[in-house]
Amino acid sequence: MNKQFGNDRADLSAYIDRVYQPEDQALGEIRERSRLAGLPDIQVAALDARHLEILTRACRARRAVEVGALGGYSGVSILRGMGKQGVLDTIEVEPKHAEVARESFRENGFAKRVRLHVGAAGQVLPRLRRRGPYDLCFIDADKEGYPVYLLWAANNLRKGGLVILDNAFLFGDLAKSPSENAATAAMQATHEMLAHSGRFRATVIPTGEGLAVGVKI
Ligand code: DHB
Ligand code: MG
Repeated sequence: MNKQFGNDRADLSAYIDRVYQPEDQALGEIRERSRLAGLPDIQVAALDARHLEILTRACRARRAVEVGALGGYSGVSILRGMGKQGVLDTIEVEPKHAEVARESFRENGFAKRVRLHVGAAGQVLPRLRRRGPYDLCFIDADKEGYPVYLLWAANNLRKGGLVILDNAFLFGDLAKSPSENAATAAMQATHEMLAHSGRFRATVIPTGEGLAVGVKI
């Protein structure tokens, strides 16, 4: 039997939510801080934040990069997954978002373990090269930039390091014709690189948004 790809039954997700409680008070406060500051309501799903923490723990990451900090919701999750030695370089193009993220990191005791880089990832990532190799790279920024960010990850992760990408289903547009919009073409190129470049062994966890995960080989 070919089992189904994912599962969107509301009773099951409610059960998992109730038992695992992926959004605790601190993450709830980040969501609220972001809302009050007028940030777009586009942080990762609570359970995807938990996936981030657990994947970070599983690969014993000590150095991580995040492309797209927003209000710090995912960054705090990655930091929680790293030991006390862990350091996160996170990149945010919007100064207003970065300000909220800075407050979220400070509130959670991570101020000294985060380097928050305010600028375009295309400008910042080349400067982070000398701080690598990294154990983990989380990509959650402009979707048209994903191929460039993934290539950076391939070149700057250690062997066995993880790349994780949010929105792997591109809001439902992933399987459309790539000529229809640039983001579809970019996300398809991203999946091709993950699946066929020989740089990663990869999968897609079929969460609501799709969480792509590759191990550098
Ligand atoms: C958008 C971006 C994201 O990374 C996301 O997870 C959801 C929405 C957006 O730009 O609309
Ligand atoms: Mg996202």
